[in-house]
Amino acid sequence: SAPPWRSGSAERPLQPVNLLELEEAAARVIPAAGFDYIAGGAGDEWTLRENRAAFERRQIVQRVLTGKVVADTATEILGTPIALPTIVAPMGGQAIAHVSAEAGTARGAAAAGTLHTVSTVATLSLEDAARAADGPKWFQIYLTRDDGFNAELLQRARAAGYGAIVLTVDVPIVGNRERDRRNGFVYPPAAAPRNFLDAAGRLRPIERAFQPRLDADSIAFVRRHGGLPVVVKGIATAEDALLALDAGAAAIQVSNHGGRQLDGAPAAFTVLPEVAAAVQGRVPLILDGGIRRGADVFKALASGADVVALGRPVLYGLALGGWQGVQSVFQHLEDELRTVMQLAGAATVADIRRTRLYG
Ligand code: FNR
Repeated sequence: SAPPWRSGSAERPLQPVNLLELEEAAARVIPAAGFDYIAGGAGDEWTLRENRAAFERRQIVQRVLTGKVVADTATEILGTPIALPTIVAPMGGQAIAHVSAEAGTARGAAAAGTLHTVSTVATLSLEDAARAADGPKWFQIYLTRDDGFNAELLQRARAAGYGAIVLTVDVPIVGNRERDRRNGFVYPPAAAPRNFLDAAGRLRPIERAFQPRLDADSIAFVRRHGGLPVVVKGIATAEDALLALDAGAAAIQVSNHGGRQLDGAPAAFTVLPEVAAAVQGRVPLILDGGIRRGADVFKALASGADVVALGRPVLYGLALGGWQGVQSVFQHLEDELRTVMQLAGAATVADIRRTRLYG
């Protein structure tokens, strides 16, 4: 039998100087192949790096004579109030990072006053992940080739109290993750996705089971069987945004999967204005990819995003401090955002959206 997977098990608040430094600390806690799976991207990892670099090419305007004082960072997304304009991106297999897995992330997000997205390939079943905390939550679905199973997952998500379905469309095939190939990485048994257990307790085959053919009908299917608002995640062009909108998307998540899929694609932040111009405010926009600082959140909102979603830093916080680590990550980001807002003359999230950037 396989040796036990030694993920993080600490339960403590963190006091990061910034979220970037958490990566190095987490690398000392998460087994190397698991860390590479989390931190890595596709191919040369150019898009992974570009997701960060793109933020550095736009500048925030200093405004210090407006007479404004930061009021709060609260906002809402699809009718759900959140304490800051940052939610948790869906990420599978969270037992790779910490023994509490998605339960820790759910609890940390709820403590921080924000929304958590549970992945199809979560370690915990969607029911257990939902029970872990009473904060707002969405369920992310990857469509498989088995429509019966897809419909079953969607009905389970609705029954478990999820408020929306996030349909991820940028994994018609898994990207070329060279770190994982080098490490021969597969999810360890401890992180096996429980949603895929069959009645006999056996794991159904997963990656080969993903549906590569995705189009407007896929969105219609998820709307019909889920009976919940559908967030289409993995949009990076005006064309796909309009297709999603026509098919009834309730929100669009601009994303390149954190640089894990199409290497050489532009940064998510780079394509955000194009998608915003196409969507014209008809549905809310969520941006993910490379958000590490309050300044990044500010720039994304000033460029057309309604909220942003945070990926890897959440898993690093989880690995280092369990649910309290996750809470600390969001608290830190909120602190940074408040400082930036004050220096840029924005008292509220609505003010940020009206702000112009340089560059
Ligand atoms: C992901 N992502 C992801 N997305 C999704 O829709 N379903 C999933 O199961 C996963 N799983 C997953 C695992 C890990 C380890 C990572 C790092 C990412 C993508 C994720 O939702 C998001 O798009 C990016 O992580 C955002 O980029 P940053 O914040 O990590 O730079």
